[in-house]
Amino acid sequence: MAKLHNIPPEELERQRQYALKVREILSAKYPTAKPLAYVHTYGCQGNVADGERIEGLLSEMGYDFCDSPEKADLVLYNTCAVREHAEDRVFGNVGKLKNYKQDNPDLIVALCGCMMQQAHVRERIYKSYPFVNLVFGTHVLHRLPELLYQTLTGGKRVVCAPDGFGEIAEHLPVRRSGGVKAWLPIMYGCDNFCTYCIVPYVRARERSREPEDVLREAREIIGAGCREITLLGQNVNSYGKGNKSDLNFAGLLREINALPGDFKIRFMTSHPKDCTHELLETIARCDKVSKHLHLPVQSGNDRVLRAMNRRYTRQQYLDLVADAKATVPGLSLTSDIIVGFPGETYEEFQDTVSLVREVEYTSLFTFIYSPRKGTAAAELPDPVSHKEKTQWFAELTAAQEEIAAKRIAESVGKTYTVLVEGRSKTDASRLAGRTDGNVMIEFAGSPEQIGTYCDVRVTETSKWTIFGEAVPENESK
Ligand code: 5AD
Ligand code: SF4
Repeated sequence: MAKLHNIPPEELERQRQYALKVREILSAKYPTAKPLAYVHTYGCQGNVADGERIEGLLSEMGYDFCDSPEKADLVLYNTCAVREHAEDRVFGNVGKLKNYKQDNPDLIVALCGCMMQQAHVRERIYKSYPFVNLVFGTHVLHRLPELLYQTLTGGKRVVCAPDGFGEIAEHLPVRRSGGVKAWLPIMYGCDNFCTYCIVPYVRARERSREPEDVLREAREIIGAGCREITLLGQNVNSYGKGNKSDLNFAGLLREINALPGDFKIRFMTSHPKDCTHELLETIARCDKVSKHLHLPVQSGNDRVLRAMNRRYTRQQYLDLVADAKATVPGLSLTSDIIVGFPGETYEEFQDTVSLVREVEYTSLFTFIYSPRKGTAAAELPDPVSHKEKTQWFAELTAAQEEIAAKRIAESVGKTYTVLVEGRSKTDASRLAGRTDGNVMIEFAGSPEQIGTYCDVRVTETSKWTIFGEAVPENESK
């Protein structure tokens, strides 16, 4: 379905007026120092990007930020609904806030994000967590000023999670948290209805931002000194459907690639069914586009793929991978896989293992199937025990580790250009940077190199880490 419209400027202005009112209330209530907000985001980068807009709005309303809920005057959890485990963590962490609230009755507890878009979750929160002050869904993020105003003045719990109609809120303030890396949402929602997935229900229909809005934000990000932009969408390969402009995703990549500046472009997620040769050519030709493709396969078995409603076969996927590898030399491929989809047999699972061995991914994100209420797969018989699925999961992980170890060993002696992200987490005397293919390399260097691109030659590897040394500029490549 086509995008209906962007949120009208009058509505955004109305929200700005609420933001001013909240600011006044807060400065009267906290006259000496700004109140502190603790915002924690669960889930995907799309949610992280939402969290940065939420923080932008909170900052506009007069909040400063802190890094633990104990010190906060407002705790906000931006939740994820993709698997039960993510939901359980949220419920556990919200439960812990009860004590903080007893110590500080003025503490505001707010919950938002994908979980809050589900009626059964809202009911559970309402019944079992009475100290939660504010609940809002994914389609009313831009109305946070109004909702917080109601929370601060109404003395009642505020719940607002209407269904979405494909609207987009442009021009929200953003408080970016990624340092030299920035997230840039280019589209929202999803129309694919993979049978296991909750996203189409909690994020509504697919809609794309107009290219002028994406390019405006890209220029802002580059102007602020960021060195890596990751374009985000559930299915970036179908970018542009329903837009005024007929620019597709490959075209958008070319336009961003043409912006002046020293930066790299990444993107995720690509649905294999919409990945075109034009896109592969574009990745190969655009110097700023990283040679990395996250191409979730989910399963290597045709029956399971059909039951998942993925709309490609194993062979079609492998043909696409062959085309991708031939078109983009040195391409790094990564994937998501679900183990133990309802009704999957061990033999069918073996097709996934063999596909993983055939493709040789750089890295893999593997998940045990988690039933999501309201999705088609949640209604299917699921006879395989969790224990057995855990064994399959371990088998797949072991296969991938073997492949990764082989790839890591092959990298010794090669030189890669890395974006230096910061100090190594395990040894602060070293720096850590990521290659084009999203592989982390650690090397000795000085802090001034953080945020720059650097050529690093791989010297040795351990099971998990690749070590290297900086290559002087005159020796590069
Ligand atoms: N159970 C397990 N994994 C899931 N994913 C999505 N829905 C589920 C589910 N119900 C995984 C898919 C997707 C990734 C983001 O999360 O592999 O690509
Ligand atoms: Fe989680 Fe999906 Fe929502 Fe992202 S879009 S936060 S992965 S449920």
